[in-house]
Amino acid sequence: MRRTPAALGAMALACGLALTACGSSDSSGDTPQVKVEGAFIPEPASGDMAAGFFVVRNSGGADTLSSVSSAIAGRVTLHSTDNGVMKEQKSFTVPANGDLDFERGGNHLMFENLKRKPKEGDKVSVELRFAKTGTVTVSFPVKAATYNPTAHASHASH
Ligand code: CU
Repeated sequence: MRRTPAALGAMALACGLALTACGSSDSSGDTPQVKVEGAFIPEPASGDMAAGFFVVRNSGGADTLSSVSSAIAGRVTLHSTDNGVMKEQKSFTVPANGDLDFERGGNHLMFENLKRKPKEGDKVSVELRFAKTGTVTVSFPVKAATYNPTAHASHASH
């Protein structure tokens, strides 16, 4: 019975240390520093659906791209491409101090149930939601249907 107050004191001390550790990790390099570059939408052939491409550059801790939306589309889905087969994904990991690429032949956004057909020269506002960073709004310019800035020989077009 006499040990109880001492045990409580030890617990309080441990909690205090835990709080200190937690507080310091918030301001360290674990915070993601994401930047979206090279965003574009190729002008789609039809008014039903359009694809979107971009690169997320991260100079901090890992983050997750969890959802995307745009006023131009009823919904925007995230797709990966595996051996030429598209697969819808719930989210994509943004690696710590690395890039997440959405490029032709690979990962891409699908703008579905388009409210209007994007035309070359338009700008489409897109909200990218990251688990840690929050919402990043990016203006995607609409480019020619064949536009491909990365143009790696190994990548087939979408
Ligand atoms: Cu797709």
